[in-house]
Amino acid sequence: MINARIAGTGSYLPKKVVTNLDLEKTMDTSDAWIRERTGICQRHIAAEGENSSDMGLIAARNALAMAGIAASAVDLIIVATTTPDKIFPSNACAIQRQLDIHGCPAFDVQAVCSGFVYALDIANRMIRTNGAKTALVIGCETLSRITNWEDRGTAVLFGDGAGAVVLQATDEPGILSTHIHADGEFENLLEVPLGTRHMAMNGNAVFRKAVSTLGLIAAETLAGNGIEQDELDWLVPHQANLRIITAAAKKLNLPMDRVVVTVDKHANTSAASIPLALDIAVRDGRIQRGQLLLLEAFGGGFTWGSALVRF
Ligand code: UT7
Repeated sequence: MINARIAGTGSYLPKKVVTNLDLEKTMDTSDAWIRERTGICQRHIAAEGENSSDMGLIAARNALAMAGIAASAVDLIIVATTTPDKIFPSNACAIQRQLDIHGCPAFDVQAVCSGFVYALDIANRMIRTNGAKTALVIGCETLSRITNWEDRGTAVLFGDGAGAVVLQATDEPGILSTHIHADGEFENLLEVPLGTRHMAMNGNAVFRKAVSTLGLIAAETLAGNGIEQDELDWLVPHQANLRIITAAAKKLNLPMDRVVVTVDKHANTSAASIPLALDIAVRDGRIQRGQLLLLEAFGGGFTWGSALVRF
């Protein structure tokens, strides 16, 4: 039986940090409101000319270095992004070119904040069916470019960044299961409306749907694997709002010291948020080899999904 195991993780954050206090100076908001309602304190913003593929490339190189795998061994690249550099070619092809790899499949996946889980699902299936042996799965976003900086309801929520994992074929346990879903009925609650370039959101409705759906996807994942919630070592959730993360942890009976939280420092980086959070917790030593991780995401579409991972 072939499994896909996470052989390395990597991430990248742009240098420029914008704090809530910085935002107070440019819009009708306050540090206290943002912290209380979202848990966000700051976000990283890409420099002019710094694109999502540039950030994804660095995250990918860091993941390859951790895995001790040469770029030439990569035979599949999947990038999750809502903010590719260009409409085409894909960010995956741009990263492939920069890594000087030629010929392997490379494509982008667009499932907004659930994009990384979608990409992981596809890469896992390709490895299990012998379609690839070493896959780069990357989430990278420049959400600052589709943010309406005049709209305090969304502008305070998002940031830029990238995260990546290297998946390798193995006969040991790795990705135990993935679960992905969508329901286009809710398109209008969170979208870039036709003819515009900026995100618009009904925050309250999205919040309620996110909390209930994340509860369901966690239950589906545990039941599908016949495991109890107390067997989980870590929850690595999409980082949209600390209140959503706390509610998800509560439903799982998980104390917050077993939940990876980066939303305070990175805000919502959409498809980049899970691999970024994962890399932070792997590199600071919290997440250890052999531990059981639940990754879960919810976002525009609506899309949602999860992965149960033996790290
Ligand atoms: O990545 C997945 C997709 N995204 C999400 O999961 C985000 C989901 N939604 C949320 O996280 C929350 O709904 C928000 C953080 C966006 C908003 O929090 P909320 O507790 O739902 O607040 P609200 O939208 O009900 O607004 C409460 C008040 C309003 O004022 P009034 O009408 O009560 O006078 C807003 O106008 O807060 C006001 N408000 C703000 N005040 C200061 C909204 N944004 C701001 C702001 N600063 N930035």
